[in-house]
Amino acid sequence: MDFKVADLSLAAFGRKEIQLAEHEMPGLMAIRKEYAEAQPLAGAKIMGSLHMTIQTAVLIETLVALGAEVRWVSCNIFSTQDHAAAAVVVGPEGTVDDPKGVPVFAWKGETLEEYWWCTEQALVWPGGDGPNMILDDGGDATLLVHKGAEYEKAGAVPSAGEDDPEEWKIILDLLRRTVTAENKWTEIASRIKGVTEETTTGVHRLYEMFKAGSLLFPAINVNDSVTKSKFDNKYGCRHSVIDGLNRATDVLIGGKVAVVAGYGDVGKGCADALRGQGARVIVTEIDPICALQAAMDGFQVTTLDDVVGIADIFVTTTGNFDIITAAHMAKMKHNAIVSNIGHFDNEIDMAGLAKIPGIVKTEIKPQVHTWTFPDGRQILVLAEGRLMNLGCATGHPSFVMSNSFTNQVIAQIELFTKTEQYPVGVYVLPKHLDEKVARLHLDALGVKLTKLTKAQAEYIGVDIEGPYKADHYRY
Ligand code: NAI
Repeated sequence: MDFKVADLSLAAFGRKEIQLAEHEMPGLMAIRKEYAEAQPLAGAKIMGSLHMTIQTAVLIETLVALGAEVRWVSCNIFSTQDHAAAAVVVGPEGTVDDPKGVPVFAWKGETLEEYWWCTEQALVWPGGDGPNMILDDGGDATLLVHKGAEYEKAGAVPSAGEDDPEEWKIILDLLRRTVTAENKWTEIASRIKGVTEETTTGVHRLYEMFKAGSLLFPAINVNDSVTKSKFDNKYGCRHSVIDGLNRATDVLIGGKVAVVAGYGDVGKGCADALRGQGARVIVTEIDPICALQAAMDGFQVTTLDDVVGIADIFVTTTGNFDIITAAHMAKMKHNAIVSNIGHFDNEIDMAGLAKIPGIVKTEIKPQVHTWTFPDGRQILVLAEGRLMNLGCATGHPSFVMSNSFTNQVIAQIELFTKTEQYPVGVYVLPKHLDEKVARLHLDALGVKLTKLTKAQAEYIGVDIEGPYKADHYRY
């Protein structure tokens, strides 16, 4: 088996944590039981690009339990948990000397070159007969296949512009080496039945490609299952934003001024958590609806320029770029903490920060750096501007990820087994499946549902067994 992880000897520790996580992931375990005999993913060759954590290990082993062959990479250079990666490679039946699990190409602290090399390894299957499905988080695997196929069609890979981000230059270099006359990427694309996408940012990319007519295969938008974005993005970040801050800095949050940029699902969770710790939270927004929500939830809403000099903690949650610029950082208080929890690292202008004349970067510990300005003031930047909950801590806990990943498995089954029902486009799972995911998590929390009477169901116009809401209902 080909694979590349940091240290296989961490597998035993990883396995113990996977066993603990399984107990906290009732949705995934119920799906394993439900489909044990039917094996709906037999024949599926799934390439996964999603943070290689303990929770993801339970997802991977669920896909395998349903019959799939899998190859995996992380979707961020800092988010791999090395013991999880090792345990997945060794597998429940294997040993360090005789690994029998799943090929993983991921370790914590990859360079960007290594990151894209890993992505390529997981997309190129020995024997050349896979993958036929992608499970993506942020859309990097989908992007590589699409760009490769696009440049093969054009017959050339364009040169990078001088102002292009470093990462784009690395992608173009990789494609220059791998785009071939034999149409390697076009072949890979043609085998893929579909992709299931985990996060807001990846979903944006998919809708854009579909609108531009360049999407090559159907996609299920897992993010917009209610049991994903209204749980993982909100309650997951409510937990892991504090975890990231604590593990990185252990600064007391109570009494501090915290700015949360963006009041979408992630921003709502972060603002709530910071307030829970006793911080005075200020929100920035561009959308009047979300700004009004933040105001009615009791937060001051203003612009970053107004408060940049008084805040102690900054968290960007927008999925947009250039939210905190170098000029902003130059105006911050001494030892202000600057962090991002959105998917990509361009929410904070790290390149601009590095270009400030005389600025000095010092590593406090991996993924925690001070940047000292020529006047002696410094700021603390977490995870080099990448998503701090996975860079400085271990991401969301198992229970919330069970909701997200149960949607992922159901979406993989949908696309793989009913491919002909999904012409190229971007789809969300039907509401009855969303409700099913929620239902699978109720017992573990001791939730007792009220049952509709027949008359009540008729009165509000729903079936006794659901779905209970119209598709346009907003939770
Ligand atoms: P969302 O679309 O619900 O929220 C983003 C909010 O930012 C919107 O309300 C938007 O109006 C606002 N915004 C956009 N530009 C802005 C600007 N210049 N200033 C202030 N506000 C601005 O998206 P969601 O689901 O909250 O996701 C946000 C990001 O977090 C995405 O990149 C997503 O992929 C990522 N994500 C990260 C997770 C993690 O564990 N780190 C988990 C889930 C999502």
